[in-house]
Amino acid sequence: MSPLLFVDSATIKFGGLSAIQDITFHLDSKELLGVIGPNGAGKTTLMRTITGIYQSQKGSIELEGIQISNLPIHKRVKSGLSMSQQLVRPFKSMNFLDNVIFAAGHRKTQKPLKTIFLKSRIEEKQKAMNLLEQLGISDMALEKPEKAPLGYLKRLELARAMALEPKILILDEPLAGLNQGEAEKLADTLKTLNKQGQTMILIEHNLREVMRICSRLIVLNNGKILAEGEPNSVFKQTRVQEAYLGEKINAGT
Ligand SMILES: Nc1ncnc2c1ncn2[C@@H]1O[C@H](COP(=O)(O)OP(=O)(O)OP(=O)(O)O)[C@@H](O)[C@H]1O
Ligand SMILES: [Mg+2]
Repeated sequence: MSPLLFVDSATIKFGGLSAIQDITFHLDSKELLGVIGPNGAGKTTLMRTITGIYQSQKGSIELEGIQISNLPIHKRVKSGLSMSQQLVRPFKSMNFLDNVIFAAGHRKTQKPLKTIFLKSRIEEKQKAMNLLEQLGISDMALEKPEKAPLGYLKRLELARAMALEPKILILDEPLAGLNQGEAEKLADTLKTLNKQGQTMILIEHNLREVMRICSRLIVLNNGKILAEGEPNSVFKQTRVQEAYLGEKINAGT
């Protein structure tokens, strides 16, 4: 059976510098794949190439066996890709609920603002409310994001991405900025969503949580895949430890 997503030789150069080079990997349906690597490794660039923000200068990207490499962003979203951003940027003038309804509208129309006034609003509203409940932030439904703590904003960002009902949910550092307790809870939520059938790619620096919830890891370094596989075996590799510590590790000490 072909994988849900197949990325072949993804390559992006900014000026003369390769941000990612010949990256090839696959993602199976219902997987929770962790993508890790030091700062500047190319993680965000790779995901932006998958979602169409950048066009790979080489190779191809297939979703369910269909080429999406030449599709613009909105068509890739319609075909099932959704990405939450590294920095949370909700619409400040809209409350939590409308932020999620607005995001859901992107799936239906290129003029998502319409969704807020459409007849189908009741149905969309119910769906959005269910998402806020599922993510534990329904108490903020009618509040605007400006005064909300970061933990709520991170969950709102997740709700907005989920509202697109994606086949693949790509999360860029959803745990960043949270304390360990909050990070653990949000990681539990991600694991639950995955167990309910949501396929995910998780970019994260919080290795403890990545190791706990991901079944497979890809390690990027300097724009290339350094290692790939089951989390414990990946971290046993000296080159992975070196990339993280920036120095050679003596296995004997
Ligand atoms: N728009 C851009 N223009 C020029 N260079 C860029 C651009 N975006 C990223 N880069 C460079 O490409 C490389 C990879 O960056 P990227 O943001 O993908 O890394 P990352 O793994 O997501 O890092 P972090 O963990 O810090 O978020 C870096 O050297 C970065 O400076
Ligand atoms: Mg990044």
